[in-house]
Amino acid sequence: MVQAWYMNNESYDKREEHHKSPPEYVSLDDLFEISGVEYYKINIDTLKSDGVLDKIKSDRGYTYEDEITISPDRLPNYEEKLQIFYSEHLHTDEEIRLCVEGSGYFDIRDNNDQWIRVHVVPGDLLIVPAGIYHRFTLDTKNFITARRFFVGEPVWTPYNRPADEMQARKEYIENLSNGKFVNVH
Ligand code: LAC
Ligand code: NI
Repeated sequence: MVQAWYMNNESYDKREEHHKSPPEYVSLDDLFEISGVEYYKINIDTLKSDGVLDKIKSDRGYTYEDEITISPDRLPNYEEKLQIFYSEHLHTDEEIRLCVEGSGYFDIRDNNDQWIRVHVVPGDLLIVPAGIYHRFTLDTKNFITARRFFVGEPVWTPYNRPADEMQARKEYIENLSNGKFVNVH
């Protein structure tokens, strides 16, 4: 089950939970409202036949799909890649990830520039909006397999912070402030 919480800002191992004391959890509805990050629950055992993932893909126009495994022995240049993933960055497009095995942490900046840590496990699909500052790390289990989706040809380019002058960043800030992420559920 996905969980999200505010991080303490201490510098010990990034793969640890980094809870505040006491822990401060964030609901998925709140996460959406204060960041625009969307969550869907997918049943990994039935995803080929139950239509849930297919509907998300067709509704949102995700035409590209691949799978990535991140672990010390499965990803070439593992240390270097993890450093890149954990550098605070944004993209000009959504980042869509479905955890199918293992687990990991997506750290998301909220509307007050505070880090929220989202722990994904199998069945968790996250849509990280274009223009939001974020980063990724493995947890202490050191293994994740995730499916990546994209509209058209994928662009994975990260733009490290500061990238405040980018159009995607400006549009994201605009969306945050004009209530685009108000939850309708
Ligand atoms: C990415 C994630 C790790 O950009 O943020 O692929
Ligand atoms: Ni990213």
